[in-house]
Amino acid sequence: MNLGIIGNGAREHSLCFKLLKSNKVNKIFCIPGNAGTNDIAENVDINVLDFENIYDFVKKNNIQMLIVGPEAPLVHGIVDFFEDKDIKIFGPNLKASQLEGSKLFMKNICKKFNIPTANFEEVKTLVDAEKFLNSSKFPVVVKSDGLAAGKGVTICENKDQALKDIKEIINGKFKSSKKVFLEEFLEGEEASFFVITDGVNFKSIGTAQDHKRIGEGDKGLNTGGMGAYSPSYLINPDIEKKIIDKIIKPTISGMNKIGCPYKGILYAGIVLKNNEPKLIEYNIRFGDPECQVLMMRLKNDLLDLIESTFDGSLKNKDIKWTEEPCITVVAASKGYPKEFEKNMEIKNVKDLKLNDKVQLFHAATFLDEKGLIRNNGGRVFSSTVMDSSLKIARKKALETLDFIDWKNKYYRKDIAFRIIDK
Ligand code: AMP
Ligand code: GLY
Repeated sequence: MNLGIIGNGAREHSLCFKLLKSNKVNKIFCIPGNAGTNDIAENVDINVLDFENIYDFVKKNNIQMLIVGPEAPLVHGIVDFFEDKDIKIFGPNLKASQLEGSKLFMKNICKKFNIPTANFEEVKTLVDAEKFLNSSKFPVVVKSDGLAAGKGVTICENKDQALKDIKEIINGKFKSSKKVFLEEFLEGEEASFFVITDGVNFKSIGTAQDHKRIGEGDKGLNTGGMGAYSPSYLINPDIEKKIIDKIIKPTISGMNKIGCPYKGILYAGIVLKNNEPKLIEYNIRFGDPECQVLMMRLKNDLLDLIESTFDGSLKNKDIKWTEEPCITVVAASKGYPKEFEKNMEIKNVKDLKLNDKVQLFHAATFLDEKGLIRNNGGRVFSSTVMDSSLKIARKKALETLDFIDWKNKYYRKDIAFRIIDK
């Protein structure tokens, strides 16, 4: 089968790496891909939101299935577009994508189907907001309704800060939405829980933990994710059962009840306190960098699992994992998530010795006209290693990043510190 993978991050590189192990896969096209996917798939330089041009390419190259990595094309209706044209595409449709595309939609699903989550209140004016804040306990979480590239959530320690953030959102700080709501701050540790679903049946497809802050010790600004590991040490069988019974099942059945079945990968961001899970957020896709560690640990043929969501056989599948844990450490351009330099040459990448357990997944890399690797974004590599312990795996992942010769590389050396360094 010829596959098209939509996206250009380390998540999509790891999806290509995993899918190429399937003997059902003939060729992968990565739309648009990066310097890493260029080595194992064919990159296609089309914007992920340019559905018409993707369609032309799909027809000309006999692509039989599309798999979507990032949220933006899903929220813009890529699944509806290709389903209308009878092309198989894996992911939720426009309506179901609101679980990530509209935080208020997700909160209202929780309310309607009794799913444990933080209490919240939508505020339409600053007067309303002030009234709410006068009787609130701080910190209070201010959230913008729409997609905001990870910048739509702020944890506010006082009323003035909250009012300033609310005003900015109401005044149009984010293109996606002017709607804003306030949320109770949930204390506890966070974990990521993934399921694959055909709209009715689902299977758990792994647990992970990521480190979102830029600095060691989980300090500093929020990022897309500076590293992750799998499995999550927080989720034992008892907690997994609670997450499934209280959060996943009511969501999947609830989405059916409101006439919008959810198909694809569903990623629940969970906070745990006193062994009770609450839902912080839903994402409608694999996480990045969580996908990288899941793809190394998953023993099943991923294409076989994805196909089973189309033919009704998902319920018969048994998902198998390696015993060994896996870690990924992200290397970013120095300065990220603020300003950083682009187009810097990156050397030594081709000299790395990589194998099934040691991979350097690329994110914001491209090849210049001379074939040299350069950076064109914030998160640039995801050094991913599976080994007998997280400690050994982290050591090896850091060795890979040390070996790369790139003036502005920055990475945390403490990923998984809560387990390794405790
Ligand atoms: P989101 O954009 O919804 O993924 O939120 C980003 C991050 O903000 C989450 O991963 C949490 O770390 C934090 N966060 C969001 N909502 C809350 C909350 N109600 N209480 C505590 N932390 C939160
Ligand atoms: N690692 C967080 C995300 O993919 O949203």
